[in-house]
Amino acid sequence: MRWFSSSRLAVVWTAALAVRSTAYDLDVNSEDSIIKGATLAADGMMHYYAGHLPGNTPGILPPPYYWWEVGAMFGGLIDYWWYTGNDTWNDIVMQGLLHQIGPDGMVMPKNQTTTEGNDDQAFWAIATMMAAERGFPNPPKDKPQWLAVTQTVFNLQTTRWDMEHCNGGLRWQIFTWNNGYTYKNTVSNGCLFQLAARLARYTGNSTYEDWADKIWDWTVESGLVSDDYRFYDGLDIPSNCSINHNQWSYNAGLYLAGSAYMYNITTGAVQEKWKTRLDGILWMAGVFFHPTQADVMYEAICEPYPRGCNTDQKSFKAYFSRWLAITTQMAPYTTELIMPKLRTSATAALKTCVGGTDGVTCGLKWYTGDWNGWDGNYGVGEQMSVMEVTQSLLIPFKTPPFTEVVGGNSTGDPAAGGAGDNPQLNAITDLSQPTGGQKAGAAIATLTVLSMTGYMVYYMVT
Ligand SMILES: *[C@@H]1O[C@H](CO)[C@@H](O)[C@H](O)[C@H]1NC(C)=O
Ligand SMILES: *[C@@H]1O[C@H](CO)[C@@H](O)[C@H](O)[C@H]1NC(C)=O
Ligand SMILES: *[C@@H]1O[C@H](CO)[C@@H](O)[C@H](O)[C@H]1NC(C)=O
Ligand SMILES: *[C@@H]1O[C@H](CO)[C@@H](O)[C@H](O)[C@H]1NC(C)=O
Ligand SMILES: *[C@@H]1O[C@H](CO)[C@@H](O)[C@H](O)[C@H]1NC(C)=O
Ligand SMILES: *[C@@H]1O[C@H](CO)[C@@H](O)[C@H](O)[C@H]1NC(C)=O
Repeated sequence: MRWFSSSRLAVVWTAALAVRSTAYDLDVNSEDSIIKGATLAADGMMHYYAGHLPGNTPGILPPPYYWWEVGAMFGGLIDYWWYTGNDTWNDIVMQGLLHQIGPDGMVMPKNQTTTEGNDDQAFWAIATMMAAERGFPNPPKDKPQWLAVTQTVFNLQTTRWDMEHCNGGLRWQIFTWNNGYTYKNTVSNGCLFQLAARLARYTGNSTYEDWADKIWDWTVESGLVSDDYRFYDGLDIPSNCSINHNQWSYNAGLYLAGSAYMYNITTGAVQEKWKTRLDGILWMAGVFFHPTQADVMYEAICEPYPRGCNTDQKSFKAYFSRWLAITTQMAPYTTELIMPKLRTSATAALKTCVGGTDGVTCGLKWYTGDWNGWDGNYGVGEQMSVMEVTQSLLIPFKTPPFTEVVGGNSTGDPAAGGAGDNPQLNAITDLSQPTGGQKAGAAIATLTVLSMTGYMVYYMVT
């Protein structure tokens, strides 16, 4: 119960008593205005977080937020610091990351065995990768280091690559007892693909490049991406590896940025191959911008419908923005296509931040912003999405991600978590299976959406 802290209740209360205040008028040409806009959204987001307070657990958000979203949020906050130079949240991020990563660096905390899938674990590893690439302060010497943690997760996940069903791929779940163990979802595989591409660039180790190729190829062969670069939700092993066709922005974003990293580190014909993919994904990513409010980002298969988006889905625009921005650094020729969309989206996004009695609570639907203000949605995902799309406007002024050779000094451990001593199996036998009543089901719960609205929505997007 302690999770329902006073700060959380305050947010719920203020949301119920909506007042209209003057919308934030973003000047996309002013660094100061961009920083103020991102800060406004970040402050609202951090009202929900109390993990650093006495009696609470670092790296945990109160319900309804699943564990993975905190890892995602810390990634967003690493970028917030890097973009704005404001280190207000750095200690909280350091503390929360280290607590959940654990002393072994495996990012498999025992408290999360009912919620942790491969995608959940990977969102934390994406945050540690960002920390290494951005030169975020290193952890104390006796703690796991950012690069080593990322490599540990990479090695754990590649040992989970499953050739027995559907010809390859990662399952959604790590543990057999969780719903979704028989599902192979695109986000788990897309996270591993992107981590492989980023580790390849950061370390120069070609093993990661080989994995990026292998994951891409399987994504194509399995039908999880179409010939015209639509990324679908996942496939179900028991029903003959058949595909759930829902399209989410973060899946496109994962493969977009991963392909941009691969494009950046390759040459000649191989680079051309990645460029073709990158261009294709970018073109099809147009489905995540509103058809009539041009260049305003939206989560196409949930925002416009009465059923709406679930807690997880409300945060997807944050990551899509993050990966669009990084794509302009890895493949600078995409800048002219991407930046106008980010600028228009950020301007519209901040117009929704007029909710609550604080008058600055952000909404979900940016495409109604100009004339409708706040749409009544509020939460971590809403705040994070506005923060990330806004801060991403500063990318043209920022140095590209560090590598081991240029700028970066995070210590790695390429063998950690690998197949050699099979810590994955040790970890699983170590953990007791939860009893039936505790099964929280899956974390990034896309399956429920399929059963409720799947095909209707699918046809509307395609
Ligand atoms: C940094 O962020 C905090 C929290 O949003 C804010 O109070 C502070 O004024 C910011 N510092 C600067 C220098 O902008
Ligand atoms: C697991 O839960 C216990 C009890 O709430 C808490 O003390 C501990 O910090 C948690 N561990 C992690 C890694 O969250
Ligand atoms: C590592 O890099 C960061 C960012 O450039 C820098 O602040 C830090 O001092 C460096 N640490 C060491 C031990 O070189
Ligand atoms: C899977 O495919 C086999 C062979 O084509 C077929 O007999 C079976 O009914 C299919 N099962 C499902 C669940 O679609
Ligand atoms: C790779 O990224 C660097 C850093 O942003 C950039 O300067 C370079 O032009 C990129 N390479 C290509 C082929 O676009
Ligand atoms: C490259 O990465 C692979 C996979 O993690 C690892 O086994 C190998 O030792 C690494 N090579 C070097 C030179 O670091």
